Parts: sequence; C-alpha cells; structure tokens
Amino acid sequence: MDCQKQNRGLSLAQCSSSLILVFVWLLSACSTKQGLSPEELVEAKAAFESCLICHSDQEMQRGPIINGLPAWYSRQQLHKFLAGSRGQNPENKSELLMGSARDRFPDERTISLLSRYIETLTPKPYQPVVKADPEKGAALYQSCIPCHGAKGEGNEPLKSPPLNIQEDWYLLDQLRKFASGKRGYHPEDIEGIQMAYTLVNLEGQDLRDLVAYIQEFSISK
Ligand code: HEC
Ligand code: HEC
Repeated sequence: MDCQKQNRGLSLAQCSSSLILVFVWLLSACSTKQGLSPEELVEAKAAFESCLICHSDQEMQRGPIINGLPAWYSRQQLHKFLAGSRGQNPENKSELLMGSARDRFPDERTISLLSRYIETLTPKPYQPVVKADPEKGAALYQSCIPCHGAKGEGNEPLKSPPLNIQEDWYLLDQLRKFASGKRGYHPEDIEGIQMAYTLVNLEGQDLRDLVAYIQEFSISK
C-alpha cells in the first residue's frame, strides 16, 4: 500500500509510526496475554495432560496443585528435577515420585512451554487443614520477609517462590522436608540449601504456626 498517496496530509514519519502501531496491535492480538502463541498453547496443554494424573485440581491428586505458580519458579524446579538435584532421594517419597516423571519434560523447550502454561492457570481455592497459632507464626514470619515478601508474594531476583498460592499441607510438608534435610540437600541445589539454612533454629510447632500465618494472605483460600 502506498501510504503517502492514501493519506496526503500525513508525513512519512507519522505514516510509518501508525503502521508500527497496527503491527504491534496485530502481534498482541495473535498471542495470549501470557505470552503463549495459539500453537504453543495447544502444545503446552497436550504436554500438561501427562502431569494431571498427579497435579489435577480435583480430589485425590498425588502431588500439589501447581496452578498459578510463576513460570520462572516452575522452570527452576523442573530443571532441578531433570538434573536430579531434586527428586532422587529415596527418603523423600513424594519428591521421588515427581522425579520419576522427568521423562515428561526432557528439554528446555518443553519446560518453557509447561512453565508458562502453569502460570496461566487460576489457583484453585482449597480448605485449609493446618490448625496452629497464626500470631506466633506472624512473629516468626518476619525472618522470611526479605526473601518471600511481606504477603508471600515471592521474589524472582532472589529465586524465592511465592507462598500465597500453594495449599497449606504442601507448605508444611516442604518446610518439614527442608528442616529434616530431605529437600535442599543436594550440593547443586543452591537455593534449596539456602532455604533449609533459614530453618535451623525452628521446631515442629514453629513450622505449623508459620503456615497458619501464611494462610492469612493466601490467594487460594
Ligand atoms: C507421578 C506423579 C507426578 C507426575 C506425573 C508429575 N508430578 Fe510434579 N510433583 C509430584 C509430586 C508428588 C510433587 C511434590 C514433590 C515433593 O513433595 O517434594 C511434585 C512437584 C512438582 C513441582 C514443584 C512444585 C513446588 O511448589 O515446588 C512442579 C513445578 C511440578 N511438580 C510440575 C510437574 C509437571 C509440569 C508435570 C508434567 C510434565 C509433573 N509435575 C508431573 C508428582 C508428579
Ligand atoms: C535467604 C532467602 C530465604 C529466606 C530468608 C526464606 N526462604 Fe523460603 N525459599 C527460598 C528459596 C530460594 C526457595 C526456593 C528453593 C528451591 O529452589 O528449591 C524457598 C522455598 C521455600 C518453600 C517451598 C515452596 C514450594 O512451593 O515448594 C517454602 C514453603 C518456604 N521457602 C518457606 C519459607 C519460610 C516460612 C521462611 C521463613 C521461616 C523462609 N522460607 C525463609 C529463600 C528463602
């Protein structure tokens, strides 16, 4: 199209900038807001089917509901499971189960598709089951804020996940595993080791109180 002939009043610069705007609009209309193109979305959904046996948001799932975890965090974890710095310790049965699924995300492309897809899923509301003292938990939680944020929103540059999405039983289970050396034990799991270290002075009841407090700002309740 000869832009200048059609819009005699427009300068060449104005004309090309309006073309750029149309182009940007077309681009954004073609991709979903989460950054998956329609083709990628189809592929990602198909790949995620293989996860649903353990990660469905229905009753009876064998793993946690992961809907809504940020893409950067799922990606970080899937790489750990693939490399074996998570999911290869026979003493950690549920982590081992997830490790046994690593043939379902064998490369960076699949990991990227899956992680970006998981981020688009709405966190599923759940019924809290951990009953403890949120006031004590609030005091203890002060030490978590620098990494996980005051409302558990997470901090990507510090590689610290949000804590306001996961179910309470899962958070407690993971805290117990960090505290007992079943997670954050592998020499290449730098973030896990760092996390485990933050719990050295805490006891079982402290972990329960922490989770009771974290529930207060959960977005999945
Ligand atoms: C055989 C069951 C099973 C399958 C299949 C499975 N997972 Fe998991 N997954 C688990 C379990 C159990 C955990 C929790 C591990 C733990 O307790 O440490 C987990 C943990 C995770 C986590 C870490 C969550 C967190 O908050 O740290 C991510 C991410 C994840 N799975 C993604 C996937 C994806 C994506 C797939 C499909 C490609 C998949 N899983 C397939 C059982 C499974
Ligand atoms: C120095 C920074 C730091 C501090 C302080 C810290 N964490 Fe973490 N936490 C992390 C990192 C990094 C990870 C991710 C570990 C990984 O990649 O496996 C993590 C992971 C977790 C997880 C696992 C989440 C999941 O989805 O599997 C829980 C639960 C958690 N932290 C709770 C806490 C609580 C509660 C406190 C305070 C008592 C705390 N953290 C203090 C850095 C920190």
